[in-house]
Amino acid sequence: MTSFRVYRSRRGDLEPHFEDFEVEVQAGATVLDALLAIRREMDPSLVVRHSCMHASCGTCGVRVDGRERLACDTRVADVARGKTIRVEPLVNQRVVADLATDMLDFQARLEPVGLPLLRTAESEAGAEPPDGIKSYVRFESCIECGLCLSACPVAHLDADFIGPAALAAAERIVEEPRGRDVGTVLALASEPDSAWRCRDAMQCTAVCPSAVEPATALSRIRRRVAVDGARRLFGRR
Ligand code: FES
Repeated sequence: MTSFRVYRSRRGDLEPHFEDFEVEVQAGATVLDALLAIRREMDPSLVVRHSCMHASCGTCGVRVDGRERLACDTRVADVARGKTIRVEPLVNQRVVADLATDMLDFQARLEPVGLPLLRTAESEAGAEPPDGIKSYVRFESCIECGLCLSACPVAHLDADFIGPAALAAAERIVEEPRGRDVGTVLALASEPDSAWRCRDAMQCTAVCPSAVEPATALSRIRRRVAVDGARRLFGRR
């Protein structure tokens, strides 16, 4: 048996609280498997969101022992280590119920930027890069799970901070505009609650399940904003 302490918050509750469950988990089971077992066998009212079950839809983000993770991609054996596993909803986002947060706020931060059109691995598997290019890289891997926003200490203090995912998306557009207005995106990135608000805590990159490396993208777009600002100051484009 593995012990779970699960955050509960429902409309009508006096205040959020934790409930404990003992779950029989199979070898290789994930935290999502355990949560679904709780819902199936012990408490059908438990609210937990998921879809793909294989780390690509980004809907099952939770905090496991204080760390942002995809529940479907976190093995119980890797986090249990003989102790109770604490599962909570992501932070810096409104909790709808129990472990489900409202993703509308996260998506609203992406909207003014616009999502990069280029998705991951557009190149065919095994395709040879053209002369002069060592290898293909993945340009945009974001699955919009919201883990980076939850882990960001600046977003915790400043609800208006646009957040790591939006800035990583902005950086992709600046690098690969494909018809987008780069000036508009750079202007957005230079606003007070945007790229310069980041304090390089690097937590976004640490928790990203998709190797987007938002912190690196953020530092790149800051450089680009600075260069763009200097050019405009000295009248050169
Ligand atoms: S259920 Fe899709 S990422 Fe976890």
